[in-house]
Amino acid sequence: MTLDEIYKGVAACNKCDLYKTATRVVPGEGPENPTILFIGEAPGWHEDQQGRPFVGPAGQFLEQLLASVGLKRSQVYIANVVKHRPPGNRDPLPNEVKACRPWLDTQMELLRPKLVVTLGRHSLAAFFPRETISKARGVPREQGGVLYYPMYHPAAALHQGGLRKVIEQDMLKIPELLKRLESKSAQEASPKQLSLL
Ligand code: URA
Repeated sequence: MTLDEIYKGVAACNKCDLYKTATRVVPGEGPENPTILFIGEAPGWHEDQQGRPFVGPAGQFLEQLLASVGLKRSQVYIANVVKHRPPGNRDPLPNEVKACRPWLDTQMELLRPKLVVTLGRHSLAAFFPRETISKARGVPREQGGVLYYPMYHPAAALHQGGLRKVIEQDMLKIPELLKRLESKSAQEASPKQLSLL
């Protein structure tokens, strides 16, 4: 499957009822070979209107966070656990998360990001269902050859001002994680280079 096929597939998806109330599908966006994949929860009102992820107030904060580590949103891939907006921005239901999961899994297989940043508890739960966000946030962990880095959802800072600093500080650790990943892949590449000598 290609990214285009995913975009067409989610647009036609009726595996749960969310498509009935949503205005537009929000499949996700970004480069085809991103180093980082950010995964949020589900589209909100603004995203539902535009068909793009994180374009409302939480998205503005996410862009500020990205800028704080020298990244533009066009350099990272941004997706959500659920691709259609739950009515009234309610939490996605377990059956909706389950129905949408194959799209996220296929996206991850195609994108092959080095680092997956989960934003908020629903995104964390998609990969580490027994973890709580307050304990997991800010601590990178590897699973299946991918490095995961859980963070609070940017919208949490808009509702609970006290979390803003925590989110900002967690974001500032990302360059160090990327450096670690780079040196790891350099180490993995070096035996091959030696064998060419
Ligand atoms: N919140 C999310 O989790 N995702 C979006 O795309 C926007 C807001």
